[in-house]
Amino acid sequence: MFSPFITDLEFLTFADYPGLIARCCFSTAAYRDEAFPLVGIDLPEHLVSAVPKRRAEYLAGRYLARQVLGELGHHNFTLLRGEDRAPLWPQGIAGAISHNTDMALCAVHRENGMGGIGIDVETRMLSKRAEALWSGIVSKEECAWLRQQPQAFDQLLTLVFSAKESLFKALYPQVRHYFDFLDARFIQLNLQQQTFELELLKTLTPQCHIGRRFTGHFLFEDDTITTMIYF
Ligand SMILES: CC(C)(COP(=O)(O)OP(=O)(O)OC[C@H]1O[C@@H](n2cnc3c(N)ncnc32)[C@H](O)[C@@H]1OP(=O)(O)O)[C@@H](O)C(=O)NCCC(=O)NCCS
Repeated sequence: MFSPFITDLEFLTFADYPGLIARCCFSTAAYRDEAFPLVGIDLPEHLVSAVPKRRAEYLAGRYLARQVLGELGHHNFTLLRGEDRAPLWPQGIAGAISHNTDMALCAVHRENGMGGIGIDVETRMLSKRAEALWSGIVSKEECAWLRQQPQAFDQLLTLVFSAKESLFKALYPQVRHYFDFLDARFIQLNLQQQTFELELLKTLTPQCHIGRRFTGHFLFEDDTITTMIYF
C-alpha cells in the first residue's frame, strides 16, 4: 500500500532478542504527506516545518511501530512522542526506533520483568568524518584501542557510536536524563559472536551504577551497521 515510499518490510531475528523487530526501507523522494493518514496518524505539529527527510523517517518508524505493536495486541496504536522526544510506548511495552538515510527499524517487547531495549542503525562514517568526530564519541584510551584492531577505524567508530546510542535509548526510560557518549566505554568486541560490551563510567541511577556492564549485538551489512542492547 505504501510502495514506493516504504518497501522491503521484514521481521528480523537479531541474536536471541525475545521481542519483535521490524525493518523497512523508505524513500524520501517517494514520500508524500498524504502517507500520514494512510498510517492512521496526523502529521504532528512538531513536523510541520520539518524537511521531507525528517517527515519520511518519522513516518517510516511509526509505520513499523504499528506493525509490531499490532502483533503484541496494541492494534492501531498511535505512538506519540514525549517532550524529551522519546516515544510514548503503551503501558507494559518497551521499545525503540531508529532510522538512517533509507532504512527504519523498530523493536518492541512486553516488559514482564525485562528491562529496556535500544536499537540503532547507522551508515558507516567516511574516514575523514571519523577523524573529525572521534573525540566526541570515545575517550583517548578507547580510540587507541580501536586503532589497534584489524578492522578499519571508521567502521569500528561507527559501531561504537551506534552501540552508545543503543545504550542511551535502552536506559533513557529509566534514567530520564541525558548522558554523554563519554559516560560509557566500549570494553569488548567479539567479531565471531557479533557482540560487544559497554561499561558505565558514571552512576545514572541506583540500578544503572558506575561499572555496570551491558552486552550488545551488532550486524555489519555492507555500509550499514545495526546495534541492539536489551536487558
Ligand atoms: C536520541 C538519540 C540517541 C537518537 O539517535 P539518532 O542516531 O540521532 O537517531 P535514530 O534515528 O537512531 O533514533 C531516533 C529515534 O530515537 C528515539 N528517541 C529520541 N529521543 C529518545 C530518548 N530520549 N530515549 C529513547 N529514544 C529516543 C525516537 O524514536 C527517534 O525517532 P523519532 O523521532 O522518529 O521517533 C540521539 O539523538 C542523542 O541525543 N544522543 C545523545 C545521547 C547519547 O547517545 N549518549 C550516549 C550515552 S553512552
